[in-house]
Amino acid sequence: MPYALITGGSKGIGKALAIQLANRKFDLLLIARNEQELKKTSLEIEATFSVDVKYLPLDLSHPEAAKEILEWCKRNDITIQILVNNAGYGLAGPFENYSLSQHLDMLQVNVLSLVSLTHLFLPDLKKHAQSYILNISSSAAYQATPGLGLYAASKAFVLSFTRSLAIELTHTPVSVTCVCPGGTETDFPTRAQMGEKALKLATKVNMQPQAVAVIAVKAMFDKRTEVVTGGINKLGVLLAWLLPKKIVEKSAANIYGINKASR
Ligand SMILES: NC(=O)c1ccc[n+]([C@@H]2O[C@H](COP(=O)([O-])OP(=O)(O)OC[C@H]3O[C@@H](n4cnc5c(N)ncnc54)[C@H](OP(=O)(O)O)[C@@H]3O)[C@@H](O)[C@H]2O)c1
Repeated sequence: MPYALITGGSKGIGKALAIQLANRKFDLLLIARNEQELKKTSLEIEATFSVDVKYLPLDLSHPEAAKEILEWCKRNDITIQILVNNAGYGLAGPFENYSLSQHLDMLQVNVLSLVSLTHLFLPDLKKHAQSYILNISSSAAYQATPGLGLYAASKAFVLSFTRSLAIELTHTPVSVTCVCPGGTETDFPTRAQMGEKALKLATKVNMQPQAVAVIAVKAMFDKRTEVVTGGINKLGVLLAWLLPKKIVEKSAANIYGINKASR
C-alpha cells in the first residue's frame, strides 16, 4: 500500500488526519520537529490500526526540508499517494512584536514548504491511478485579521494556490483539496501566544481535531476543492463576505487585542 505523507502529523489536526487515514489502511509517513512526540504517535497508530507508520523529525522552517523528505522517500523506497500539507502555526499580536526571522520562519512552514513539497512530489503523485493533495488552510483565509495578520495572509495564499492547482490538475490523476478549519482544540493557541479574549472565544466555538479530520478526509476522497469545517465557521465566512470589510476587520482586531491606540 502506498503511503500518506502528513506534515505536522505528530499531534493536533495532523495526528487526527493520520488516524483517519490509518483507519482506511494507508501506511503513513509523519513529519514534525519533536522526535519523542512523533515516535509516541507512530507507535500508538501502528498498534491500533496495524499499518506501517514511519516518521522523520525535520524542521520545515529550513528551506531544504522538502528536498530532504523527497530524498528520504527515494532512499527508503516509499511511494507517496497522499500528500497532506498540514504543519503550520500563527504568531498572534502586533506584527512589530516579532522579529523578521520569526515571521519568515512562519512563512517558510505555512507557505513555502507546502509549495516545495507539492512541486517535488507532484511527478510521483501523477504516476498513481488516483492520488491526492490535502492542504490545511484556515477560516482566517477569508479575511484580513489584524493581530494574526501574516498568518491569515499565509492561509489566504494556501487557499488561492490550492484552488488554482485543483483546476490545473483537473485532467490528471491528482485531486487537490483545501480544508479551512476554524478554532480547533489543539496546541495552536499556545504556540501562537493568543491573548485572553481570543482564547475565551475559542473555548466557546472550538471543534475537536477528530471532527475536523473526518470532514477533511471525506472532502479529500470526495475530490472537493474547498471545504470550511463546521456550521459556525461557515457562517463566519459568509458574514466576512457579506459585511463591509471595515466592520469585519475591526471585530477581528478587537478579538486579537489590537486596540485603537495601535490602529
Ligand atoms: N487549531 C486551530 O484552531 C486551527 C484553525 C485553523 C487552521 N489550523 C491549521 O491546522 C494546522 C495544524 O495545526 P494544529 O491546530 O493541529 O496545531 P498543533 O497542535 O500545534 O500541531 C502542529 C503540528 O505541526 C508541526 N510543526 C509545527 N511547526 C513545525 C515545523 N517548523 N516543522 C515541522 N513540523 C512543524 C507540530 O509538531 P512540532 O511542534 O513537533 O514540530 C505539530 O505536529 C495548521 O496548519 C494550522 O494553521 C488550526
